[in-house]
Amino acid sequence: MKLLAIESSCDETGIAIVDISESTTDTLSIDVLAHALNSQASIHAQYGGVFPTVAKREHAKNAVPLLISALSDAKLLAEVTERPPQALVGELMHMLEREQELFVHVAMFAATYGKPDIDAIAVTYGPGLEPALWVGVNFAKALAKLWSVPLIPINHMEGHIYAALIHGSTSQYTFEKPKLPLLSLLVSGAHSELVLSESVGQYKILGSTRDDAAGECFDKCARLLGLPYPGGPHISRLAAEARRKQLPREFVLPRPMIHDTSLDCSFSGLKTALLRITEKQTALSDEQKEQLSLEVEDAIVEVLVKKTLLALERTGAKTCVVSGGVSANTHLAAELSRTLEEQFPDVSLCISPRNLSTDNALMIACAAAPYALKEQFAPPDTIQAQGNLSLQRT
Ligand code: KG4
Ligand code: ZN
Repeated sequence: MKLLAIESSCDETGIAIVDISESTTDTLSIDVLAHALNSQASIHAQYGGVFPTVAKREHAKNAVPLLISALSDAKLLAEVTERPPQALVGELMHMLEREQELFVHVAMFAATYGKPDIDAIAVTYGPGLEPALWVGVNFAKALAKLWSVPLIPINHMEGHIYAALIHGSTSQYTFEKPKLPLLSLLVSGAHSELVLSESVGQYKILGSTRDDAAGECFDKCARLLGLPYPGGPHISRLAAEARRKQLPREFVLPRPMIHDTSLDCSFSGLKTALLRITEKQTALSDEQKEQLSLEVEDAIVEVLVKKTLLALERTGAKTCVVSGGVSANTHLAAELSRTLEEQFPDVSLCISPRNLSTDNALMIACAAAPYALKEQFAPPDTIQAQGNLSLQRT
């Protein structure tokens, strides 16, 4: 079954095409036919964060070119046999009335290319930036109408979980049902959540951030240190330098809520504490930036590791997933791996591969695969972008 997936929740436009099949009842095989991604990070860098209306505009501009490139990679770009009827073009115009530029691209696409060999379309409908999400949702609805195929709405965070559960190379992955219960540490620019799954597809949020997300904290701290957006990778690079040089610990930042018995976390105090330090310095030397980056990374990682261990102890989870943009942090991965080996040797740790840790459409396709094979589709009219969509489904 061929599935096309669309991701547009933040500042990456992603389109993936996969061919899925059930190998055994607990194993899915996922052949990647195309995995196209357009990052807007350099555009948003000037604003120091993602600017929602710019994200919407960029998604609308890039969606069709990315679709053509993905279909071409998958060798599914079909010649048009007959032009779409005027009534259908009118419907597409109505569906995309808020995305005029996207409508023009879709109409040109429909006049140039025919229906590809695609069986269903999966789309991220939340959580994320609502204007950005709507572009993907409306684009998916328009393509579903044009090609007469069903739709599967996918929660972006479920996509992140699947990104850590699949195994394979860039062109072929398998998804094996994990040992349950499954605990997921989801850490991205907008989320820091510990989620328990007693069965596949069922989620209970055990704890989350009370203010800033872990990635947001990395980004805000990076900004205070004069580092570009997104700041996580830059902090991580400077922290690694500080470790390599064994720089003395000049600065101390708090580890918020580390001794609190709840599974919630809070990162805004960390940024404020860093602000107090930077305000006192006239200019930070390169060495001081490395020392502060080390302290920021250590503080965030220590809190995340502590809360994860606490959640493992309380839930008896047998699998631990770490996913979302911050899971690309090598220090977090190393610390979790080391502490789990020491304290929970029977728990399997699944960290999303680096190329799938940040937002992409392949993870959306993987999360959609079980629904697609069970033909669990949603009527287009019921699908709405939901910026605050929660994973909780008990
Ligand atoms: O999942 P993602 O691509 O987008 C959201 O859904 O938010 O996550 C982006 C976040 C950014 O805050 C970025 O700074 C952070 O992931 N990030 C990292 C690293 N790579 C990306 N944080 C720490 N260390 C990294 N290596
Ligand atoms: Zn994400």
